[in-house]
Formats: sequence, C-alpha cells, structure tokens
Amino acid sequence: MTLAYHGKRTLNGKPASVKVDEERMLLWVLRSDLGLTGTKFGCGESLCGACTVIVNNQAVRSCSLPVKQIAGKQVITIEGLGQSGLHAIQAAFVKHHAFQCGYCTPGMILNAYALLLKTPKPTPEQITRHMDDNLCRCGAHVRIVAAIQDAATAPRGGAR
Ligand code: FES
Ligand code: FES
Repeated sequence: MTLAYHGKRTLNGKPASVKVDEERMLLWVLRSDLGLTGTKFGCGESLCGACTVIVNNQAVRSCSLPVKQIAGKQVITIEGLGQSGLHAIQAAFVKHHAFQCGYCTPGMILNAYALLLKTPKPTPEQITRHMDDNLCRCGAHVRIVAAIQDAATAPRGGAR
C-alpha cells in the first residue's frame, strides 16, 4: 500500500509517503521505515504510552494502530514538536528534570501536548488524570506533572 500524504495529510507538517503493508503498525512505520526513532517501543500492547504520537490533535498509541487508519490524517511525532527549537513542554521537562532514563519522555511529552491542546490551563488533578496511563519506570511522575503545569503557565507555553 502506498500512503501518500498530500495537502492536509502530513507527517510533522510535511508531505510524506511510504510503501508498506496497510496492517503494519504506525510505530514500526515511523521507527523502522521512516527512521523517526524518537517514538519508543515499550509494551507493544497499548499499556505503557511509550509509543504515543499525535494524530489529528489526539494522543494515540502507535504500537496498536494499523497504518491504514492514519491515511488522510495529520501526524506529529516528538521530532516534529521540536522542529524550531525546544517546545515549551520540552523546555519545562528539562527545567524540572522530569526524566531519568528518558525512555518514556517522548510519549509523556506528546500526551501532555494533547492535553494542553484541549485544556490549556489544566489543574494538577486534570494533569494527573490525563497522564495516569503513561508509565514511567524511573518514577519521575511528580516532576512530570510539575513540568506540565509549568509549561501550561509559561508566557509562551501551552500546546503552541
Ligand atoms: S509500546 Fe505502545 S503503549 Fe506501550
Ligand atoms: S524516565 Fe525512565 S521510564 Fe520515565
């Protein structure tokens, strides 16, 4: 199958195309076929959130999403978020040391991005609830919530 991204169909804001089996999971198309290795493989079963990317402004788990389901949609990976310098959420993660090994971080940041698109000024409770299913084995959750709060209130913060 040829996935052709034209016009509104984009990967990190640019047209892209790749020939793959339409049942192939988006995670492997991104990582193995397109070399976008910022998206991580954790559980492979929609349980950990390491593979989170943005599709049409929603956080989705790319390990369980056949690529045929993104035809005609806009996809953002962690590489796309920082294209013109660190995004406010990325900068806040650095500022708050909101990671240790960093394996969960791209998924955390993109899940936070989806939250701030929908809820620009979330309460700590809303952040905790939204991020609850993204797992961090290093136990950085408290710093992750603080970073997201900071990003939401920064002068140029939020999901912009
Ligand atoms: S690798 Fe996709 S949710 Fe864990
Ligand atoms: S920073 Fe290591 S898994 Fe989250």
